[in-house]
Formats: sequence, structure tokens, C-alpha cells
Amino acid sequence: MTQQTAYKELGLVNTKAMFKQAMEGRYAIPAYNFSNMEQLQGIVIGCVESRSPVILQVSGSARKYADAIFLKFMAMGAVRMAKDLGADIPIALHLDHGDTFELAKSCIDSGFSSVMLDGSHHSFEENIRLTNQVVAYAHERDVTVEGELGVLAGVEDEVTAEVSHYTKPEEVEEFVEKTGVDSLAISIGTSHGAHKFKLKPGEAVPPLRFDILEAVEKRVPGFPIVLHGASSVTPEHVEMINRYGGKLESAVGIPVEQLRRAAQSAVCKINIDSDGRLAMTAVIRKIFAEKPGEFDPRKYLGPARDALISMIKHKNETVLGSAGKA
Ligand code: G3H
Ligand code: 13P
Ligand code: ZN
Repeated sequence: MTQQTAYKELGLVNTKAMFKQAMEGRYAIPAYNFSNMEQLQGIVIGCVESRSPVILQVSGSARKYADAIFLKFMAMGAVRMAKDLGADIPIALHLDHGDTFELAKSCIDSGFSSVMLDGSHHSFEENIRLTNQVVAYAHERDVTVEGELGVLAGVEDEVTAEVSHYTKPEEVEEFVEKTGVDSLAISIGTSHGAHKFKLKPGEAVPPLRFDILEAVEKRVPGFPIVLHGASSVTPEHVEMINRYGGKLESAVGIPVEQLRRAAQSAVCKINIDSDGRLAMTAVIRKIFAEKPGEFDPRKYLGPARDALISMIKHKNETVLGSAGKA
């Protein structure tokens, strides 16, 4: 991509002020993943209607799917649509799980206001080196950077980990200091995707390691912490998917009470992708099952977008506490 675009030209903001307010107000900013128009519209409308600041996030592969240039204009469209709906909510565009300096740079150059460099699968030293390289480029352009320490279980986009390696609190200070990151993703037992835990019958979801979070908070007081893999995998949506021909066995997420507790702590950003996918898929399956003659995409993507809007409003209002903060 040749032409450079600064995120401010698109009407976006970085995450600095959002995180400061979330820390002081003891709530978390929602970071919703998207890769197409209906998802983006659903996220923006849901956040406008609940008056919530929002981080729109895309993985490297989602950006490829949407097309990098197209995505830039989608983001600008999202900002304009929010204003047109009468709400000037702060909107950030964030690269989720960036794995190279080149990808982070390309995003910054095409209008992202925030990027993640996920070097958690590298050695501690290499993670610091790579993250710091991104921070140097980003900060010159007033773009914020998220780093990660500790590895989550589950399947991420082009990032896989068989087991969860909890963050080591004793590494956090040095990492934050040497990299200059603006926020830090940590591993305290969350996991990506819709199958977060392998539970035996009758077994409860293991609680998140709040002891690790508290130890991290002590090391870097007031520093914004990020929680990945934080979908709650709503049983109603899983049930609906299975009722209408899907096959999602033993799908399980993070209990909402634990997310509420996290949102009131130093956790300032909570990442949600799977819950949106599930909400949309459930509605689309129902429509396909009940109206097999339907072939107008608006007739199934429209209701799917409505389901996403409801999910997002509910999440902002009752779990993250971000509703009414914009
Ligand atoms: O944490 C990762 C996101 O859920 C990535 O999703 O790469 O399939 O877009 P995606
Ligand atoms: P979920 O799969 O739990 O929605 O996590 C999404 C995420 O962490 C994106 O980075
Ligand atoms: Zn993630």
C-alpha cells in the first residue's frame, strides 16, 4: 500500500484516554472482532445504542479477508455512521495478534490507531525486542501498542497454543519498562474460541487466576491490562445452533460473573470474537432451517446483525460496564 493514512484523518482515536477512563471508572472497554460489513455495523450500532466507547479489532487474516484498503474505508464509514446516528463515541481501530513488525507497520500506515504485537510465543528477550521495535514506530505516530506475556490455550488466528502458560508476574515490570507498551495482555486462564475448557460431566469451569492478576497489578499499579479469549459462549446461542443443524459439542466459555469481576479491576480491555460469531450463526441457521427457500442475503444477514447488536448492548450494559461511558 503506497498512500499513508494517519488514523486521525479517519476520525479514530488511540486507546490512551479510553483506558485511563476505564481504569478510573472501574469498567472495561469492549474490543470486538470483525471481518465484514454486517459485523462492523452491528458492533457500531450496539455501541452507539449503549453509548459505549469501542475498540474495533481485526486479526491479520481478517484484514486480508476484508482487503486492507477496503478495511480503511470501512473504519471511516463506521466513524461517520456513529456520528450520523447521533453519538460521538470514541472508536479505535486495532490490530489483533499482530505477529511481525511489518504487519504492525502496514496497519499503522493505513490508519490503525492501535496495534498488538503478540510475541508471547517467542523467548522473553525476543518478545521484548520485537514489541519495542513496534512501539518505537507506533509512538512516533501517536499509535498505542498492546503487548502480551504468557500464552493462552485454544486457537487464535495463526497463533496456536496447546496449553495455557500463565503470565509470570515477576516478568511484567521489566517487560513494560523495556518495551514501552501502553497495555499488556496476560494469561490467567482464559482461552480463545468456543471450546475453552474440556470438562468432564458435572465438572465446573475452572475459575480464572485472579491471584495472578492481583500480583500483576501490584507490580505495575494503574497499568492497563487486557483479557483475550473472554467470550462467555452463551448457552442459548450454542443450543440454537445445535437445534438448527449445527454441531457444536461441549462449547463452553468464561462465566459472566468472572468477566464482571475482571472488568472492575485493572483489566481495561476485554476481547470478544466468538460470542459475536455464535450469535450471528445461530440466527442464520434458524432462518435457513425455517425458510429453506430464502436466498436474499439481507434476509438472513440482517437478522444476524440484529442479534449481534443485542448481544453487544447486553455485554456493554451488564458485563463490561462500558455502557453510558461515551
Ligand atoms: O483471537 C483471535 C481472534 O478470535 C482471531 O480470529 O483470525 O479468525 O479472525 P480470526
Ligand atoms: P474469544 O474467542 O473468547 O472471543 O476471544 C477473542 C480474542 O481474544 C481476540 O483476540
Ligand atoms: Zn486474542
